[in-house]
Amino acid sequence: MASELNITGETKNEKYELLFQQLKALTEIETDSIANLSNFCSALKYGMNFFWVGFYIVKNDELVLGPFQGTIACTRIKKGKGVCGTSWLTKETIIVENVDQFPGHIACSSASKSEIVIPIIKNNEVVAVLDIDDDKYSTFDKIDQFYLEQIVAITINWFK
Ligand code: SME
Repeated sequence: MASELNITGETKNEKYELLFQQLKALTEIETDSIANLSNFCSALKYGMNFFWVGFYIVKNDELVLGPFQGTIACTRIKKGKGVCGTSWLTKETIIVENVDQFPGHIACSSASKSEIVIPIIKNNEVVAVLDIDDDKYSTFDKIDQFYLEQIVAITINWFK
């Protein structure tokens, strides 16, 4: 991957298409999981202008904070807790338009207003989740879900 992203699209779809191609190219030149996951977070945060982007990785009975971009965040989340733990439990992508209206939402930053969490599933088990927060309400919709589910599919082999 080039050392700089080129996300020139005008619509959300165009931006995601460009991002997806560039993220795929990354996998062809680097095999280290932490390096790749870190660049994925940076590419998503700065390419799409989100407030916070990070991975939480399943370790024993908890999600533990992995590579991320943004303000410091909670480090451990139990299954079924918050948006991330609920996505782990249900194995489904969760879109939250207003975090104050999600029962049990875990507020790592008071600036976060909306959120999307995508489970990363390997052999029918959730191995991690991709968590993205934004500082505006209703940022995420089915378009984000469509592209982000494709983007996390690239990461599957970087988790145990
Ligand atoms: N809001 C998440 C916790 C992680 S932070 O947003 C980075 C949740 O409710 O699971």
